[in-house]
Amino acid sequence: MAALELPPNTLAEGLDTVRRAPPGVLVVFGASGDLTHRKLLPALERLSRRRLLPAAFAVVGVARTEMTDDDFRDLMADAVPNAGPGWGEIIKNSAYVAGEYSHPDTFTALRDRVRQTEEALGTGANRTYYLATIPEVFGDVARALGKVGLNRPEPGGSARLVIEKPFGRDRETARQLDAALHEVFDEDQIYRIDHYLGKETVQNVLALRFANAIFEPLWSRNYIDHVQVTVAETVGVEKRGNFYETAGALRDIVQNHVMQVLSLTLMEPPGSIDAQGIRDEKVKALRSVVVPQAQDVPNIAVRAQYDSGWVEGNAVPGYRQEPGVSPQSQTETYVALKLSVDNWRWAGVPIYVRTGKRLPKRVTEVALQFKAVPHLAFPRQAALGLNPNALVMRIQPDEGVTLRFGAKVPGQAFMVRDVLMDFSYGAAFLEEPPDAYERLLLDAMVGDPTLFIRSDEVDTAWGIVQPLLDTWGKGGAPLSGYASGSWGPRQADTLIERDGRQWRTP
Ligand code: BG6
Repeated sequence: MAALELPPNTLAEGLDTVRRAPPGVLVVFGASGDLTHRKLLPALERLSRRRLLPAAFAVVGVARTEMTDDDFRDLMADAVPNAGPGWGEIIKNSAYVAGEYSHPDTFTALRDRVRQTEEALGTGANRTYYLATIPEVFGDVARALGKVGLNRPEPGGSARLVIEKPFGRDRETARQLDAALHEVFDEDQIYRIDHYLGKETVQNVLALRFANAIFEPLWSRNYIDHVQVTVAETVGVEKRGNFYETAGALRDIVQNHVMQVLSLTLMEPPGSIDAQGIRDEKVKALRSVVVPQAQDVPNIAVRAQYDSGWVEGNAVPGYRQEPGVSPQSQTETYVALKLSVDNWRWAGVPIYVRTGKRLPKRVTEVALQFKAVPHLAFPRQAALGLNPNALVMRIQPDEGVTLRFGAKVPGQAFMVRDVLMDFSYGAAFLEEPPDAYERLLLDAMVGDPTLFIRSDEVDTAWGIVQPLLDTWGKGGAPLSGYASGSWGPRQADTLIERDGRQWRTP
């Protein structure tokens, strides 16, 4: 096959052009679904546009919907309006297999299509299986791949399985899922996606901490008073009411995205920034987070659900009025938590976490709030506008880092107040960063597991939230309400104010 004629591409220059996907086949289960259409295909097209996919590359879609190869190719084209020139080649190479995931014929047909495609393109047997399906079929698909031998790498090739959360509904079901996957795939073949780890700014937590000498000495109980993690969304549950009813904010955001961001914030410096070094330290950090005792849950956790209100100037309905949601629903759309960490670095430093839907602003950030100065040398009146230092890692939007410190207000009087020193990604780097799926798809195809979650991390994260699930599941915590467009229920303020602290206003 002739090499693709692509125009010079400035985006590719300066990027890690050596990390290109090897020739291969990406098998997408759930190929007719929403995730494939909205995220995976556009991400693949961007990779091809950046010239990070080889010419010998194909997608083999699998789903229950009856479609021909040509229908699937049309679907690939529709998913990416204004595609770059390489996309047409990939579409031409691609194929589709219709069938039930529970039916062995689907997988024999798939094996044949994969082999035909590999022969036609001369790719060798580099196979990545992406499960963009409902999680209930993860185990079945993995087993069925095993039955037709697609789970084992052929000589010189690879076989990787990519799955996305939810990884179980609780610790027990997550363990069952792992056991099912491990029947057929080794742990190092399994790539568990948490799309937060694909975000540039989440990775920047590592750069900020370990590429600089000035922050790390301050990164401990000696200087830090507390940590606040905020994952705030303005959206409601949108069209996912049915799914969200079975999840809630603790499962949907805290067990995964919050724990991932937190583990990078809390971890010790790894010996090297590689998959094992980073993941070992992340899991160690999570193991140091104190698992709440059932009797403490009411004191350290608040759960709440949004009522109607106003968000960004629009009147919005309450959660119980959303499509697919029970009018008596007890599902939480907001969680506030106080965690503590039992290790040398973080002893005595509380970690406050809050996440919710229908809050006033879309913002994800990790704020390290430093201790106040030991002695204020200025008259109290002169320092009314002064707060303790804070280092804020802004994960989204307006990605960057802000340091808050005190400065003299210009003028004859000696007044001090807070000022902000700001690093903004947009201003410092002119290149568009790759989006999370682009990054993670490429990593999976290249075989770099650094930004994927290992089985022990998933298990430890479930271990931390499990006592909350158990207590809440027994009706052991009241569900508060909050007006859409507010920063959450009063109880969440009480949670932090009891300790003489306050939530930040991002
Ligand atoms: C998903 C959750 O994992 O993350 C959604 O299921 C949530 O409920 C989304 O809206 C938030 O992701 P992002 O990238 O918009 O912060």
